[in-house]
Amino acid sequence: MTSLAGKSVLLIIGGGIAAYKTHELVRLLKTRGAAVRIILSKAAEQFVTPLSLASLSGEKVYTSLFSLTDEVEMGHIQLSRAADLLIVAPATADLMAKMANGLADDLASTALLATDKRVLIAPAMNVRMWQHPATQRNVEALRRDGVSLVGPDDGEMACGEFGPGRMAEPNEILAAIINLLKPRSQPLTGKKVVITAGPTREPIDPVRFISNHSSGKQGYAIAKAAVELGAETILISGPVSLPIPSGVQLMPVETAQEMLEICEGEMPADIAIFTAAVADWRVASEAPQKLKKTSGAAPSLTLTENPDILATISHGAKRPHVVVGFAAETGNVTEHAAQKLKKKGCDLIVANDVSAGSGVFGGERNTVHLVSAAGVEDWPQMSKDEVARKLMERLAQMLVPQNKAAE
Ligand code: C5P
Repeated sequence: MTSLAGKSVLLIIGGGIAAYKTHELVRLLKTRGAAVRIILSKAAEQFVTPLSLASLSGEKVYTSLFSLTDEVEMGHIQLSRAADLLIVAPATADLMAKMANGLADDLASTALLATDKRVLIAPAMNVRMWQHPATQRNVEALRRDGVSLVGPDDGEMACGEFGPGRMAEPNEILAAIINLLKPRSQPLTGKKVVITAGPTREPIDPVRFISNHSSGKQGYAIAKAAVELGAETILISGPVSLPIPSGVQLMPVETAQEMLEICEGEMPADIAIFTAAVADWRVASEAPQKLKKTSGAAPSLTLTENPDILATISHGAKRPHVVVGFAAETGNVTEHAAQKLKKKGCDLIVANDVSAGSGVFGGERNTVHLVSAAGVEDWPQMSKDEVARKLMERLAQMLVPQNKAAE
């Protein structure tokens, strides 16, 4: 018998005749050791009582969005976040329509909109309501949002009709809950991914610097995708104005030399992805004081080349198993990328055309070409998030043969 000890679920009961079955569901969950908090929708109170559910769950049952005592004990946002999983049973046509459209006008729908946790719904309604195109559209939308469904089952309904619409039985719902709560091994679980992103900033004096227009968006999107695939994700970033993706370890840097130092300190890693637009040069010696503006005499700056971070890591003793570079080009994109692949010693170059009018710099979309020893693969135009997800999935696959060899 799988134990749910230490797990906490929030059961949201909708207003339908099947609500009576949630007594049994609560009992099953409690037997497995789960903590069960319950929200009753207004309509659900017509079918089951807070008192019976409180006795079964051993917890207070919440009913109103505007109950001051409830808000003091546990605000509705916290209620929806404290759980490991939200379960809606029965999920009525009305509650599903609210969820699909992001409505929040009572405690049940507000908790569902405020959550950042997985949601499982057990639909229950009349056959025709279930088959109605509006409900089916909502089911589609909910699936796209990542909501899981259990049921509905086929059978005779309380209204006398026959067909799909019966709520799944409590033991079926329990099995779906156990499945959703079991720890998942993701493709990059236990792997370390290091990503450089953003521009670097090379000081001229205490107030001036040399930098570039990199927004960091593609690198941040890649970091987010790496976390989603389960990787320990280190994001070494120059100055950008982007939120830190959740689960990412951010290492803020300013100069190319700092970026290299931190990067070397993070080795060994399984995958390293270099998206940073590193300044090619820095001022040979930074002025300790602000340079004075003297008329007729503009200062001349002596520049010196910055280290190539990608090439250094790629040729270093602690080279990650997969090294990926980016190449922003304004013509002959794939030829230049192929040369860069060899010169920098990486496994893959993600090349893109950043010519004026391409909208890549600072924009949301990107058209990339994957250049490797195997050849060139052209990807269609996608959002930077989609490029990131597809790229991380590809890199996870590239690690697989190496994983097998290590076994
Ligand atoms: O040589 P180029 O700047 O076109 O190479 C781009 C690739 O090399 C990118 O992946 C970039 O992050 C990386 N790079 C680096 N250190 C440098 C210059 C580029 O890591 N100094």
